[in-house]
Amino acid sequence: MKKFLPLLSLVFIFSCEGQQAKKEKTEEAPKKVQEQAELDPIYKLADSKGCFACHDIDRRKVGPAYRDVAKKYAGKENAVEELVKSITKGSMGKWGSIPMAPQAVTKEEARKLAEWILSFK
Ligand code: HEC
Repeated sequence: MKKFLPLLSLVFIFSCEGQQAKKEKTEEAPKKVQEQAELDPIYKLADSKGCFACHDIDRRKVGPAYRDVAKKYAGKENAVEELVKSITKGSMGKWGSIPMAPQAVTKEEARKLAEWILSFK
């Protein structure tokens, strides 16, 4: 039995490391999405329009996470139009009790932002 003990502890160490690596992987995922999104010119538009004061891609802030918006509207026929309307005219009662005021963007910008948000599903 004594012979096996070092071997056993080695196996134990390896299995722990495996778990550690897995854990890091899952924690890294949202960060990667964020980094990739930041390279996108549309991200800069959203940033310059102040969207990130209330929204994040993967996390709920004052408003819903963009990924949740994308999931909710996935497969809906007029998803882009509906989001353009919410962005330019404001939205209330769809995600909770806090309303979103009409945003200072053109319809074209709103369309680009809506398409971008819907890509996170
Ligand atoms: C002051 C905070 C605030 C800012 C700034 C803001 N939002 Fe929102 N947003 C909200 C809230 C709160 C909601 C949820 C409204 C509701 O429940 O209907 C929302 C909802 C949304 C939705 C979902 C609408 C729907 O019809 O389901 C989209 C898309 C969206 N925002 C995009 C944007 C974009 C793009 C910008 C920047 C141009 C922006 N928001 C800026 C607070 C904000």
